[in-house]
Amino acid sequence: MTKAKRQMTEDVKLVELVIELLDARAPVSSRNPDIDSLAKGKSRIVILNKADLADEAALGVWKTYFEDAGLFVLTADARSKASFKSLSSVVRQACREKIERDAKKGIKNRPVRAMVAGIPNVGKSTFINSYAGRSAAKTGNRPGVTKGNQWIRLGGDLELLDTPGILWPKFDDKNAGIRLALIGSVSDGILNIEELAVWFIAFMRSKYPGLLQKRYGVDERGADISSENQIPTDAQILYEIGRRRGCVVKGNEISYEKAARILIDEFRSGKLGKISLEEP
Ligand code: G4P
Repeated sequence: MTKAKRQMTEDVKLVELVIELLDARAPVSSRNPDIDSLAKGKSRIVILNKADLADEAALGVWKTYFEDAGLFVLTADARSKASFKSLSSVVRQACREKIERDAKKGIKNRPVRAMVAGIPNVGKSTFINSYAGRSAAKTGNRPGVTKGNQWIRLGGDLELLDTPGILWPKFDDKNAGIRLALIGSVSDGILNIEELAVWFIAFMRSKYPGLLQKRYGVDERGADISSENQIPTDAQILYEIGRRRGCVVKGNEISYEKAARILIDEFRSGKLGKISLEEP
């Protein structure tokens, strides 16, 4: 963390624009609020990435939320270059003051220097690779640039640092930590996977009723659970998912851990549907 912070602090000095990537399914939990002080005085763009996996209604609300906070916002699937068609015009808007200042000094078409930043797994490398593409020309090391850093020239108007700024996940409540674990930004080892799955089942039953039933055939309200006429607990639903998916361990027991892993993997890959874990 200390190393990441030091690197980020150094790199940000080299740029005029910070492109911050957030996970569209949990934009606040996946944001490190230190970015505001780290990127002070810089032009800012927020990309709500993995938009392909997020609930469309929530995505729209989040976009407005960040725009209302004075940021320029794009939604994207970083794997597809098509997501970034409008990026150049958003860059021009975000850097308008700098471009106008340059113009007054008689400097024309000086590219904006930018860096990508975000916590792990939000898609920073994917963004750089797909946005820069094969056509990207590396401009080589320059004086004042940390050894190893290179600039990728994108068209006439943008130069992107080829290594992203890694921010560290920061959260002050347990639910935010759970959301970060679900989107894969903190390692699975930190939280008990069964506990994560049970939290997720409770969340799904309340916010997206019917989706677990659709995917796994479990009755969220109880008909197929042994305790008839009773509403099943979230743990019973996890058990039922395991039973239906054949998560058996020795002695013919159902493995909650295997069931939890299937559930979380399928959430992460979008198989359960477009799901957002938080709303403004
Ligand atoms: P990072 O640099 O911020 O740590 O993230 P990275 O680009 O490595 O992306 C993390 C994972 O998220 C990768 O999947 C990547 O393909 C996926 N990803 C990135 N952007 C998007 C997006 O907009 N939509 C979706 N659906 N996935 C995205 P992976 O399974 O870890 O690796 P891979 O097997 O895809 O290479």
